[in-house]
Amino acid sequence: MKKVFIETYGCQMNVVDSETVMAILAAEGFARAESTTDADVVLINTCSIRDGAEQRIWHRLDELGALKKRRKGMIIGLIGCMAERLADRILEQRPMVDLVAGPDSYRSLPKLVAGATDGAKGVNVELSKEETYAELSPVRLDSSGVSAFVAIMRGCNNFCSYCVVPYTRGRERSRDPETILREVRELFAAGYREVTLLGQNVNSYLHEDVTFPELLRRVAATDPKLRVRFATSHPKDISDELIAVIAKTPNICRAIHLPAQSGSSRMLEKMNRKYTREWYLERISAIRRAMPDCAISTDLIAGFCGETPDDHAATLSLMREVGYEFAFMFKYSEREGTLAAREMPDDVPDEVKTARLTEIIELQNELSLQSNRRDIGREFEILVEGLSKRSPDRVFGRTSQNKVVVIPRTTKTGHNLQPGDYTKVRITTCTSATLQGEEV
Ligand code: 5AD
Ligand code: SF4
Repeated sequence: MKKVFIETYGCQMNVVDSETVMAILAAEGFARAESTTDADVVLINTCSIRDGAEQRIWHRLDELGALKKRRKGMIIGLIGCMAERLADRILEQRPMVDLVAGPDSYRSLPKLVAGATDGAKGVNVELSKEETYAELSPVRLDSSGVSAFVAIMRGCNNFCSYCVVPYTRGRERSRDPETILREVRELFAAGYREVTLLGQNVNSYLHEDVTFPELLRRVAATDPKLRVRFATSHPKDISDELIAVIAKTPNICRAIHLPAQSGSSRMLEKMNRKYTREWYLERISAIRRAMPDCAISTDLIAGFCGETPDDHAATLSLMREVGYEFAFMFKYSEREGTLAAREMPDDVPDEVKTARLTEIIELQNELSLQSNRRDIGREFEILVEGLSKRSPDRVFGRTSQNKVVVIPRTTKTGHNLQPGDYTKVRITTCTSATLQGEEV
């Protein structure tokens, strides 16, 4: 039996894709390897979102090339976004790579691997308008057994001017809701207690007459003990209906990830985000009106084309105004082929990008700390995920707001908390990254 190891980089969608690839290969008799050293086939699932992500992969391929020299017959495959974007260049410049497959061609992997075993290099980077891998049950590769990602759609039609995703993942398409519900029910039956519904823009999910709010309602109806999360929402179409569904369904989590990218309407226009700062803030107010306890997180880009000190100041003021619980923060990285790369000079010097990013990160640390301090003394229900990495007599779990809380493992009744348990806690202390609490 051939053994395969999949190494995953990039976003949560890539995590599910690796699990889907494992399902496809397992159906053809492949077993899972524990690491690259006991694998016959190593697949690298790659990301293209920023240049740094791609540089890591070029370097990783060299390391794997060295391993391959010592292990005759080992097959190295490159899959995912970078495979889609750079197939030819990779085959030319990295001879250790035997096969290349883009995000929509994973069903052809068994054939590509078989071809590579016979010494033929294989490539499939065809994008599809229909492929959703709908009926496949991903083989869960992490071992928590509590929380799983479920892909509900693929691709993206938004064409934000900085973003490579529409080119690497193709057009938007939604997965059949029946297959989604079946997968969720199977996960619950297997002991999972949290699902995160994934798509590049979940708000535009549409399958026949099933919209995203309707899908969320159906998934949440699986069981009240199943927590439901989703990512990512585009601010331009987060609707009142969606907010209402979340507000009236207790097991849909009180955490919305709503990437702003910038606080300057002028930048948002250049980014082709299709909303203004005012529109964004109005959506935040709508969320807060319906759910005062909802956590809001964001993605921000520092130093996009033509960004002035005033634009940057507008991002900082937006952050203060919203008071984000959490943020992913990046320096702008020009991506070949995007509208920005074609039409807008990447004119903010790197030192300026770095300085702005540092300010954004420092402000976010302050905001996260303030938000965590507000939680001290409050009570939350957490879903236990596992043992604390720092100490074996503590466990960690998350609140509905997606904040990590560390508590003693043994309850007052002498019972040891297990992954998958729900428990009520009161917050006692915090840092900007975590809360500490006690059982109530
Ligand atoms: N440069 C920097 N950050 C980017 N993102 C997307 N494209 C780029 C880019 N070219 C960020 C956005 C997006 C997140 C997934 O990555 O903030 O929301
Ligand atoms: Fe995910 Fe985007 Fe990276 Fe592709 S480019 S792996 S979609 S973050």
